[in-house]
Amino acid sequence: MFTRSVAHRIPLRAFKRWAHTTPTMNYRSVTEEDVAHFAKILAPSSVLSTLAPVSTPASELSIYNNDWMNKYHGKSTTVLRPKTTKEVSEIVKWCNERRIAIVPQGGNTGLVGGGVPIIDEVILNLGNMNKIRSFDPVSGIIVADSGCVLEAMSEYLVPHHYIMPLDLGAKGSCQIGGNVSTNAGGLRLLRYGSLHGSVLGLEVVLPDGTILDQLSTLRKDNTGYDLKQLFIGAEGTLGVVTGVSILSAPAPNASSNVMLALPKYENVLPLFREVKRQLSEILSAFEFIDRRAYELAVKHGQGRALNDEDVEGAECFVLVETSGGKREHDEEKLNTLLESLMEADEPLINTGVLSQSPLQFSQLWAIREGITEAVSKEGKAYKYDISIPVASFKTVVDTTRDHLQSKGLLRDDAVKHVVGYGHVGDGNLHLNIVAAEYSPEIESALEPFVYELVQSYKGSVSAEHGIGVMKTHALQYSKNATSIDLMRRIKTLFDPNGIMNPGKVLP
Ligand code: FAD
Ligand code: MLT
Ligand code: ZN
Repeated sequence: MFTRSVAHRIPLRAFKRWAHTTPTMNYRSVTEEDVAHFAKILAPSSVLSTLAPVSTPASELSIYNNDWMNKYHGKSTTVLRPKTTKEVSEIVKWCNERRIAIVPQGGNTGLVGGGVPIIDEVILNLGNMNKIRSFDPVSGIIVADSGCVLEAMSEYLVPHHYIMPLDLGAKGSCQIGGNVSTNAGGLRLLRYGSLHGSVLGLEVVLPDGTILDQLSTLRKDNTGYDLKQLFIGAEGTLGVVTGVSILSAPAPNASSNVMLALPKYENVLPLFREVKRQLSEILSAFEFIDRRAYELAVKHGQGRALNDEDVEGAECFVLVETSGGKREHDEEKLNTLLESLMEADEPLINTGVLSQSPLQFSQLWAIREGITEAVSKEGKAYKYDISIPVASFKTVVDTTRDHLQSKGLLRDDAVKHVVGYGHVGDGNLHLNIVAAEYSPEIESALEPFVYELVQSYKGSVSAEHGIGVMKTHALQYSKNATSIDLMRRIKTLFDPNGIMNPGKVLP
């Protein structure tokens, strides 16, 4: 049965640094016989394939084969868009028996190349599984298909006075299954914690096609190993998440935000302490934007620029959000904070721009959320998403810039900008190097330099975006050999044939 298909060794090309770690397993390309079989399992509109009998034009597969940054490119011939868990199970079983590799794909907004093929793996896109299965207005527990778009879930909850416990700039496209599979952090982690806490249950199709039903709606369940945790952040390497049960949070009655302009980075930490002390239970976000990141956001039309006098002399900005139960109470707290910050003998801030309306609230957030898009409009981004002590954010950005300067790469036709922004409250810096083009010269100047720098702070090379294909070789900077060995054994236990998202996460 296998003789007509071409066996691949993954990877065959592209990632030179993998030369010494080439996996030993073989995968098979999809054949016309496979496509004919998929067409029997799925509705006609759910099978896209350049192969007969379907024969979709290759251009229609492009959005599935290329990632959001247009940095990682696959050559899959076949995209499957199942509508039910049973369909997913049948596809996976077929692929496992024939050693056809699968890339689970959600909204394809990932930033580490995890959701696109390395060669021509089948793309299993979950976008057609987009139904809310149940919602309990007392507990706030929502159960949904994994292909539900995050923003659609948030909108579903509005009339019930609940909000999703996570929010990110990609909310309009990313899916809850992708969020769970990357253990996405985002803008609300400071308040609502990680998905390891708010996800209560999962339904997963295992690599042999078995449906693992752990779609619990219980807050407490100590019956042995908590298996669902393994799939949170597994980036599609252990199975396909098809259903998610998640605890939503009561919607705050009042939210406000203020953009604080700081004369120097050194003030960020004392400011964070003071903001926490004064705002305590109503503090819901504390986000960092350095001056260059702010300027890029404004240049590319993200949010509304602050007035010149508010920006003058600012080395960086912090966006503070409050979410609480009573508007007058929260506003009083925020105003008192601002007054005390401005009137201090040695003020930690130059100014604070307080939103006065829902529109201004959104405009301030748009500056912060829009940096990712601004960076990608400006050039090609090398994105390092790292956990390091907050006190070292500026040093790491400056050291990286100096390093690139010393290599003669800081020039308009090579590296245009080195910027920093991120989730200070979570110790998560987004170090972005914006280049004119992706080039081996820039990449080898950055790696392992950045990873060694992170390691010197005992940090993490991936705070929230995951490992994907980008950082498999860098896992060792944050995980010791024993941990990596255990991860590999878990992978083999779940996926002995190695069909599930090969070449991702594990080196
Ligand atoms: P995809 O990109 O499609 O896939 C991501 C990974 O998950 C891949 O490895 C894929 O194989 C796997 N996967 C997807 N769906 C499933 C499934 N159902 N079952 C098994 N595996 C699956 N990330 C953050 O953490 N915080 C942020 O603040 C943030 N902001 C962003 C802002 C912008 C503008 C953009 C473009 C990205 C941002 N991201 C952020 C990164 C990205 O949005 C998140 O990683 C998101 O969770 C990915 O969801 P997705 O549905 O797009 O997944
Ligand atoms: C963010 O915090 O804006 C996201 O993680 C995306 C990015 O790093 O650009
Ligand atoms: Zn982030």
